[in-house]
Amino acid sequence: MYQIVEKEALVPNIIYLKIRAPKVAKAARPGQFVIIRVDETGERVPMGLAGWDAEEGTIEIVFYVLGTSTMKLGTLRVGDSVLNLAGPLGTPTEVGNFGTVICACGCFGIGPTMPLIKALKEAGNRVITAVEGRSREFIFWEDRLREASDEVVILAGDGSCGDAGWTNDFIKRRLAEEKIERIFVHGCPFMMMEAARASEPFGVKTIVSLTPLMVDGTGMCGACRVEVGGETKFACVDGPDFDGHQVNWETLALRLRQFIPEEDRSHMLWER
Ligand code: FES
Repeated sequence: MYQIVEKEALVPNIIYLKIRAPKVAKAARPGQFVIIRVDETGERVPMGLAGWDAEEGTIEIVFYVLGTSTMKLGTLRVGDSVLNLAGPLGTPTEVGNFGTVICACGCFGIGPTMPLIKALKEAGNRVITAVEGRSREFIFWEDRLREASDEVVILAGDGSCGDAGWTNDFIKRRLAEEKIERIFVHGCPFMMMEAARASEPFGVKTIVSLTPLMVDGTGMCGACRVEVGGETKFACVDGPDFDGHQVNWETLALRLRQFIPEEDRSHMLWER
Protein backbone atom coordinates (compact mmCIF):
# COMPACT_ATOMS: atom_id res chain seq x y z
CA MET A 1 0.00 0.00 0.00
CA TYR A 2 1.21 3.49 -0.87
CA GLN A 3 0.36 6.07 1.73
CA ILE A 4 -0.58 9.67 1.01
CA VAL A 5 1.62 11.98 3.10
CA GLU A 6 0.54 15.35 1.72
CA LYS A 7 -2.49 16.63 -0.16
CA GLU A 8 -3.43 20.04 -1.54
CA ALA A 9 -6.29 21.27 -3.73
CA LEU A 10 -4.28 23.53 -6.06
CA VAL A 11 -7.04 25.10 -8.16
CA PRO A 12 -10.60 23.99 -8.99
CA ASN A 13 -10.53 20.25 -9.84
CA ILE A 14 -6.75 19.93 -9.72
CA ILE A 15 -5.21 18.08 -6.78
CA TYR A 16 -1.63 17.55 -5.62
CA LEU A 17 -0.62 14.41 -3.74
CA LYS A 18 2.66 13.37 -2.21
CA ILE A 19 2.75 9.59 -1.85
CA ARG A 20 5.18 7.27 -0.09
CA ALA A 21 6.77 5.08 -2.79
CA PRO A 22 10.50 4.68 -1.99
CA LYS A 23 11.47 2.40 -4.88
CA VAL A 24 9.81 4.67 -7.44
CA ALA A 25 11.39 7.77 -5.90
CA LYS A 26 14.85 6.20 -6.14
CA ALA A 27 14.61 5.43 -9.85
CA ALA A 28 12.46 8.32 -11.19
CA ARG A 29 13.63 10.54 -14.05
CA PRO A 30 11.96 13.55 -15.77
CA GLY A 31 9.24 12.58 -18.23
CA GLN A 32 8.36 9.30 -16.53
CA PHE A 33 5.00 8.40 -15.07
CA VAL A 34 3.30 6.01 -12.67
CA ILE A 35 0.11 3.97 -13.03
CA ILE A 36 -2.15 4.20 -10.00
CA ARG A 37 -5.07 1.96 -9.05
CA VAL A 38 -6.96 3.38 -6.11
CA ASP A 39 -8.75 0.19 -5.11
CA GLU A 40 -9.73 -3.26 -6.41
CA THR A 41 -12.42 -1.90 -8.72
CA GLY A 42 -10.41 1.09 -9.90
CA GLU A 43 -9.02 1.71 -13.38
CA ARG A 44 -5.31 1.93 -13.86
CA VAL A 45 -4.63 5.62 -14.42
CA PRO A 46 -1.30 6.93 -15.78
CA MET A 47 -0.01 10.09 -14.13
CA GLY A 48 3.14 12.05 -14.89
CA LEU A 49 5.63 12.44 -12.05
CA ALA A 50 5.60 16.01 -10.77
CA GLY A 51 8.50 15.42 -8.41
CA TRP A 52 10.21 12.92 -6.15
CA ASP A 53 12.53 12.79 -3.17
CA ALA A 54 14.72 9.69 -3.04
CA GLU A 55 15.84 10.35 0.55
CA GLU A 56 12.32 10.90 1.83
CA GLY A 57 11.02 8.03 -0.34
CA THR A 58 8.15 10.04 -1.78
CA ILE A 59 6.77 10.96 -5.20
CA GLU A 60 4.46 13.80 -6.24
CA ILE A 61 1.57 13.83 -8.70
CA VAL A 62 -0.86 16.48 -9.90
CA PHE A 63 -4.13 15.32 -11.43
CA TYR A 64 -7.34 16.66 -12.88
CA VAL A 65 -10.51 15.27 -11.32
CA LEU A 66 -12.46 14.03 -14.32
CA GLY A 67 -13.73 10.43 -14.12
CA THR A 68 -14.63 8.01 -11.34
CA SER A 69 -11.05 6.93 -10.65
CA THR A 70 -9.69 10.44 -10.26
CA MET A 71 -12.74 11.37 -8.16
CA LYS A 72 -12.02 8.41 -5.87
CA LEU A 73 -8.36 9.40 -5.70
CA GLY A 74 -9.40 12.95 -4.89
CA THR A 75 -11.48 11.80 -1.89
CA LEU A 76 -8.48 10.16 -0.19
CA ARG A 77 -6.94 12.00 2.76
CA VAL A 78 -3.48 12.21 4.24
CA GLY A 79 -2.86 8.83 5.91
CA ASP A 80 -5.01 6.91 3.40
CA SER A 81 -3.35 4.66 0.81
CA VAL A 82 -3.78 3.65 -2.83
CA LEU A 83 -3.82 -0.07 -3.57
CA ASN A 84 -1.31 -0.22 -6.45
CA LEU A 85 1.29 2.12 -7.80
CA ALA A 86 3.57 0.93 -10.61
CA GLY A 87 6.57 2.89 -11.82
CA PRO A 88 8.57 4.70 -12.78
CA LEU A 89 7.31 3.84 -16.27
CA GLY A 90 8.10 5.11 -19.75
CA THR A 91 11.25 6.35 -21.39
CA PRO A 92 12.68 9.44 -19.64
CA THR A 93 12.68 12.70 -21.58
CA GLU A 94 15.84 13.29 -23.62
CA VAL A 95 17.59 16.13 -21.79
CA GLY A 96 20.59 17.73 -23.47
CA ASN A 97 22.16 21.14 -23.77
CA PHE A 98 19.96 22.37 -26.63
CA GLY A 99 20.29 26.12 -26.09
CA THR A 100 17.08 28.09 -25.55
CA VAL A 101 13.99 25.94 -25.02
CA ILE A 102 10.33 26.54 -24.29
CA CYS A 103 8.44 24.45 -21.75
CA ALA A 104 4.75 24.96 -22.48
CA CYS A 105 2.29 23.68 -19.91
CA GLY A 106 -1.21 23.99 -18.57
CA CYS A 107 -3.65 22.27 -16.21
CA PHE A 108 -2.26 19.01 -14.71
CA GLY A 109 0.67 19.33 -17.15
CA ILE A 110 2.24 21.99 -14.92
CA GLY A 111 3.12 19.10 -12.57
CA PRO A 112 5.43 16.99 -14.80
CA THR A 113 6.91 20.17 -16.29
CA MET A 114 8.55 21.08 -12.97
CA PRO A 115 11.18 18.28 -12.86
CA LEU A 116 11.81 18.75 -16.58
CA ILE A 117 12.56 22.47 -16.17
CA LYS A 118 15.03 21.66 -13.39
CA ALA A 119 16.76 18.98 -15.50
CA LEU A 120 16.93 21.27 -18.55
CA LYS A 121 18.44 24.06 -16.44
CA GLU A 122 21.00 21.68 -14.94
CA ALA A 123 21.96 20.66 -18.47
CA GLY A 124 22.75 24.30 -19.30
CA ASN A 125 19.66 25.38 -21.23
CA ARG A 126 17.94 28.75 -21.08
CA VAL A 127 14.38 27.78 -20.16
CA ILE A 128 11.36 29.87 -21.07
CA THR A 129 8.25 28.52 -19.39
CA ALA A 130 4.86 29.38 -20.88
CA VAL A 131 1.97 28.43 -18.63
CA GLU A 132 -1.67 28.69 -19.65
CA GLY A 133 -5.01 28.57 -17.88
CA ARG A 134 -8.57 29.47 -18.70
CA SER A 135 -8.26 32.33 -16.19
CA ARG A 136 -6.09 33.40 -13.26
CA GLU A 137 -7.69 30.88 -10.90
CA PHE A 138 -6.43 27.94 -13.00
CA ILE A 139 -2.74 28.93 -12.84
CA PHE A 140 -0.77 27.40 -9.97
CA TRP A 141 2.87 27.05 -8.87
CA GLU A 142 3.78 30.39 -10.48
CA ASP A 143 6.39 30.97 -7.75
CA ARG A 144 7.98 27.54 -8.30
CA LEU A 145 8.03 28.02 -12.07
CA ARG A 146 9.66 31.46 -11.69
CA GLU A 147 12.29 30.09 -9.35
CA ALA A 148 13.19 27.22 -11.71
CA SER A 149 12.99 29.00 -15.10
CA ASP A 150 14.88 31.87 -16.76
CA GLU A 151 11.63 33.45 -17.92
CA VAL A 152 7.98 32.71 -17.22
CA VAL A 153 5.13 33.83 -19.44
CA ILE A 154 1.64 33.57 -17.98
CA LEU A 155 -1.20 33.18 -20.45
CA ALA A 156 -4.84 33.43 -19.45
CA GLY A 157 -7.48 32.49 -22.02
CA ASP A 158 -9.81 35.20 -20.69
CA GLY A 159 -7.07 37.83 -20.32
CA SER A 160 -7.54 38.01 -16.52
CA CYS A 161 -3.77 37.92 -15.93
CA GLY A 162 -0.51 37.88 -17.87
CA ASP A 163 -0.84 37.85 -21.65
CA ALA A 164 -4.18 37.07 -23.26
CA GLY A 165 -4.35 33.86 -25.27
CA TRP A 166 -2.87 30.39 -25.02
CA THR A 167 0.53 28.74 -25.24
CA ASN A 168 0.11 28.13 -28.97
CA ASP A 169 -0.30 31.91 -29.49
CA PHE A 170 2.84 32.53 -27.47
CA ILE A 171 4.80 29.87 -29.39
CA LYS A 172 3.91 31.50 -32.72
CA ARG A 173 4.91 34.94 -31.44
CA ARG A 174 8.17 33.86 -29.86
CA LEU A 175 9.34 31.66 -32.74
CA ALA A 176 8.89 34.61 -35.09
CA GLU A 177 11.16 36.72 -32.83
CA GLU A 178 13.81 34.41 -31.46
CA LYS A 179 15.71 31.20 -32.19
CA ILE A 180 14.32 28.41 -30.08
CA GLU A 181 15.97 24.98 -30.25
CA ARG A 182 13.29 22.77 -28.77
CA ILE A 183 9.82 22.89 -27.27
CA PHE A 184 8.39 20.56 -24.61
CA VAL A 185 4.64 20.47 -24.03
CA HIS A 186 2.65 18.99 -21.14
CA GLY A 187 -1.10 19.32 -20.81
CA CYS A 188 -4.34 17.98 -22.24
CA PRO A 189 -4.17 16.44 -25.76
CA PHE A 190 -5.93 19.43 -27.36
CA MET A 191 -3.46 21.89 -25.86
CA MET A 192 -0.49 19.75 -26.96
CA MET A 193 -1.92 19.41 -30.48
CA GLU A 194 -2.39 23.18 -30.77
CA ALA A 195 1.14 23.83 -29.51
CA ALA A 196 2.61 21.33 -31.99
CA ARG A 197 0.62 22.87 -34.85
CA ALA A 198 1.87 26.32 -33.87
CA SER A 199 5.53 25.30 -34.05
CA GLU A 200 5.32 23.10 -37.15
CA PRO A 201 5.70 25.88 -39.75
CA PHE A 202 8.90 26.98 -37.97
CA GLY A 203 10.36 23.46 -37.99
CA VAL A 204 11.21 23.55 -34.27
CA LYS A 205 11.21 20.07 -32.73
CA THR A 206 8.27 19.86 -30.35
CA ILE A 207 8.05 17.05 -27.83
CA VAL A 208 4.64 16.17 -26.42
CA SER A 209 3.90 13.79 -23.57
CA LEU A 210 1.12 11.30 -24.30
CA THR A 211 -0.47 9.28 -21.51
CA PRO A 212 -3.62 7.84 -23.11
CA LEU A 213 -5.63 4.89 -21.77
CA MET A 214 -3.27 2.36 -20.24
CA VAL A 215 -3.61 -1.05 -18.61
CA ASP A 216 -0.33 -2.86 -17.98
CA GLY A 217 2.14 -0.04 -18.74
CA THR A 218 4.74 -2.49 -20.03
CA GLY A 219 3.98 -2.76 -23.75
CA MET A 220 1.97 -6.00 -23.48
CA CYS A 221 -1.71 -5.05 -23.83
CA GLY A 222 -1.77 -2.48 -26.63
CA ALA A 223 -4.29 -0.24 -24.85
CA CYS A 224 -2.05 2.81 -25.12
CA ARG A 225 -1.36 2.59 -28.85
CA VAL A 226 -0.91 5.84 -30.72
CA GLU A 227 -0.05 6.56 -34.33
CA VAL A 228 3.18 8.49 -34.77
CA GLY A 229 4.79 9.08 -38.15
CA GLY A 230 2.38 6.53 -39.70
CA GLU A 231 3.50 3.78 -37.30
CA THR A 232 1.78 2.29 -34.27
CA LYS A 233 3.63 3.06 -31.06
CA PHE A 234 2.90 2.13 -27.45
CA ALA A 235 2.91 5.27 -25.33
CA CYS A 236 3.88 3.35 -22.18
CA VAL A 237 7.20 2.05 -23.50
CA ASP A 238 7.94 3.96 -26.74
CA GLY A 239 6.81 7.19 -25.04
CA PRO A 240 5.32 9.01 -23.33
CA ASP A 241 7.40 11.56 -25.28
CA PHE A 242 6.78 11.82 -29.01
CA ASP A 243 7.45 14.27 -31.81
CA GLY A 244 4.28 16.37 -31.77
CA HIS A 245 4.54 17.02 -35.51
CA GLN A 246 4.31 13.28 -36.19
CA VAL A 247 1.38 12.40 -33.90
CA ASN A 248 -1.94 11.52 -35.53
CA TRP A 249 -4.08 13.69 -33.24
CA GLU A 250 -7.38 12.67 -34.85
CA THR A 251 -6.99 8.95 -34.07
CA LEU A 252 -5.74 9.81 -30.60
CA ALA A 253 -8.89 11.87 -29.95
CA LEU A 254 -11.10 9.01 -31.19
CA ARG A 255 -9.37 6.48 -28.93
CA LEU A 256 -9.66 8.79 -25.93
CA ARG A 257 -13.41 9.08 -26.53
CA GLN A 258 -14.11 5.38 -27.05
CA PHE A 259 -15.13 4.56 -23.46
CA ILE A 260 -17.18 7.68 -22.75
CA PRO A 261 -20.49 5.72 -22.32
CA GLU A 262 -18.82 3.33 -19.83
CA GLU A 263 -17.16 6.25 -18.05
CA ASP A 264 -20.51 8.04 -17.74
CA ARG A 265 -22.18 4.90 -16.38
CA SER A 266 -19.36 4.33 -13.90
CA HIS A 267 -19.62 7.93 -12.75
CA MET A 268 -23.38 7.62 -12.29
CA LEU A 269 -23.05 4.38 -10.27
CA TRP A 270 -20.33 5.83 -8.08
CA GLU A 271 -22.32 8.96 -7.29
CA ARG A 272 -25.34 6.95 -6.11
FE1 FES B 1 -0.45 -1.83 -22.31
FE2 FES B 1 0.92 0.31 -23.07
S1 FES B 1 -0.51 0.16 -21.46
S2 FES B 1 0.84 -1.63 -24.03
